[in-house]
Amino acid sequence: MTAIQRVFSGVQPTGNLHLGNYLGAIVNFVKLQQTHNCIYCVVDLHAITVWQNPVELTHNIREVTAAFLASGIDPDKHIVFNQSQVAEHAELAWVLNCVARLGWLNRMTQFKEKAGKDRENASVGLYAYPNLMAADILVYRATHVPVGEDQKQHLELARDIAQKFNNDFSESIAAKGYDPKFFPQPEPLITGPATRVMSLRDGSKKMSKSDPSDYSRINLTDDADAIAQKIRKAKTDPEPLPSEEDGLKSRPEADNLVGIYAALSGRTKADVLREFGGGQFSGFKSTLVDLSVDKLGPIGAEMKRLMQDPGHVDAVLVKGAERARAIAFETMKAVKDIVGFVQPK
Ligand code: TRP
Repeated sequence: MTAIQRVFSGVQPTGNLHLGNYLGAIVNFVKLQQTHNCIYCVVDLHAITVWQNPVELTHNIREVTAAFLASGIDPDKHIVFNQSQVAEHAELAWVLNCVARLGWLNRMTQFKEKAGKDRENASVGLYAYPNLMAADILVYRATHVPVGEDQKQHLELARDIAQKFNNDFSESIAAKGYDPKFFPQPEPLITGPATRVMSLRDGSKKMSKSDPSDYSRINLTDDADAIAQKIRKAKTDPEPLPSEEDGLKSRPEADNLVGIYAALSGRTKADVLREFGGGQFSGFKSTLVDLSVDKLGPIGAEMKRLMQDPGHVDAVLVKGAERARAIAFETMKAVKDIVGFVQPK
């Protein structure tokens, strides 16, 4: 019998949770609860690598938590908490800052994109971000990490850091009787079909919280009217829907809407096209509106209900943090032992 594997993943509380976050990440988090021990973290320490308004940050931490709960993540069977309540994340990140090499971080494409031209003015935290992400995963010695494509490079870095720690300290690890693979190599779990939900206004851009047009995305807190309006206004092309998946090539908007339909209904794109191929977008969009309202409406409503009870949400996070800390503390104690720090027995 193999041990149940441990999943860790994080979502940044930076506002406007949308359909892309839901289908790209949260749906998969919910599913993994059946097969793994899961730890889901609201990564507030990552959020402040770019300045956050403190009032909005508090709100956004609760909102991501509410989205987790409303989507069906069970905070009793699994662990849900916010990162800043477990000091071991930042503590291990420091040790890993001393393991990771500048050259490794210099290759991170997300930093280059986020820092843009004015790199001198980016925070040191934004640069060291991937080391904190490695710490998140390794402090629980998680074996599986559901991430989107955009985070794959960071996960590979976490694997390199884990391996370098195991090598750099191999003698100490052996002398003190730990498993030579003290930090396991975390495996990415890349998600299913509609992982990449694109903008409703431009099928070549990812759906994004920072798009100036609210019509580009469906927010998880949108009500039925807003969802309907946004889908009806979604960009399409003049052709009818194709009958086969091949026909979606070079039709990014059609591909996106069919992908959303497939993901929300748990079907394949091919299957969806067997039903709607040859038809006009108007009919397809009406069915997509119904499906979206059906699936997302209750989640949005439950999120709103939870947001009116911040005391409850905060209590979930405090309890989750206690349980997370118990695991993280043990890892950190071993890390200190391995590195050679003096600490209480
Ligand atoms: N960097 C991730 C993102 O922006 C969030 C994140 C932080 C994360 N720590 C993590 C994801 C650990 C997986 C595992 O999406």
